[in-house]
Amino acid sequence: MSKEIVLSGIRSTGNLHLGNYYGALRKFVKIQDDYDCRFFIADLHALTTNPDPNDLHANVKKILAEYLAAGIDPEKATIFIQSDVPEIAEMYLLLNMHVGIGELMRTTSFKDKARKALGLSAPSESDDDEAFEKQIIGSETNKRVNAGLLTYPTLMAVDILIQRATKVPVGKDQLQHLELTRRFARRFNSFYNVDYFQEPYDFDFGGAPVKVPGLDGSGKMGKSEGNCIYLIDEPKALRKKVMRAVTDEGPQAPNSPMSEPVANLFSLLELTSTPEVVQQFRDAYADCSIRYGDLKKQLAEDILAVTNPIRERINDILADEDYLRRVVKQGAEKARESAAKTLADVRQIMGIRKF
Ligand code: TRP
Repeated sequence: MSKEIVLSGIRSTGNLHLGNYYGALRKFVKIQDDYDCRFFIADLHALTTNPDPNDLHANVKKILAEYLAAGIDPEKATIFIQSDVPEIAEMYLLLNMHVGIGELMRTTSFKDKARKALGLSAPSESDDDEAFEKQIIGSETNKRVNAGLLTYPTLMAVDILIQRATKVPVGKDQLQHLELTRRFARRFNSFYNVDYFQEPYDFDFGGAPVKVPGLDGSGKMGKSEGNCIYLIDEPKALRKKVMRAVTDEGPQAPNSPMSEPVANLFSLLELTSTPEVVQQFRDAYADCSIRYGDLKKQLAEDILAVTNPIRERINDILADEDYLRRVVKQGAEKARESAAKTLADVRQIMGIRKF
């Protein structure tokens, strides 16, 4: 029996951090034997925010090396670069004919990004949609909300549908895009009266989602939050970051509840340390003998035990251009094979036929 197809992509907009590692990469490594896994670097999606051309390529290369260093095996999984598969771009054009600009404009990620591009304050529930639309339509060239940003969900749906993937591991913030993908798939099927696309769902890894908080006291680790520990961080810089993590004035009475910043450090310790060490610090917190400096020192060393070998592999892989080229070529060939087949079917279904 053929394996179920799992697809996931990551935008090439910076280095991978501990949140990416525990939330995604480590899980990908675990499932690569059991599924037909396809992992790709979404450089076309990265273009929606108009990066510097040199940064774009450097970032693609870094993420590729980081995927490989984390243990994704190109002999088991297909690893490819989105822009190496031109079939995606063509199908994006075709699928857009069945996507409404209204539904795209109502997408949360679009609203957030458009507001950012226009320099507006954080999105609020009481948004006046009409005023917002007027601002988009009337925006000056230097504050342009580009059409690529609007059609981001179409491109993502194509990534998934063109590979015929049914399981798509994504973060919470991407679930709406997955919902749109299902809607587009159903719409295509019903418009052309075919039973062609299967609807993709989030990959359920089971268990509670892993919590990887940032170092700034609140919220999860995220590139845009500036609270990250990167896999590539040098030991000295990493230690410094951890030592500077936000804490509080310390427990004032035995068994007092933990503040969020301190609970966050414990979450990180739970991910990287042994249960004994975690318990030891929990006890010290409970009886008020804890010294946050000790906790942070321990945390930094335990994180380094995870990231040191990965960082060394990243640097080795980055230095081996031949290897990178081979991986990318092999991945592109495999990804294009299935993409070309889907695209040919879609063209046929839509009535684009050869003379
Ligand atoms: N939009 C995703 C993100 O920002 C990246 C992505 C692009 C993706 N295409 C995809 C993820 C297809 C899963 C499947 O995280």
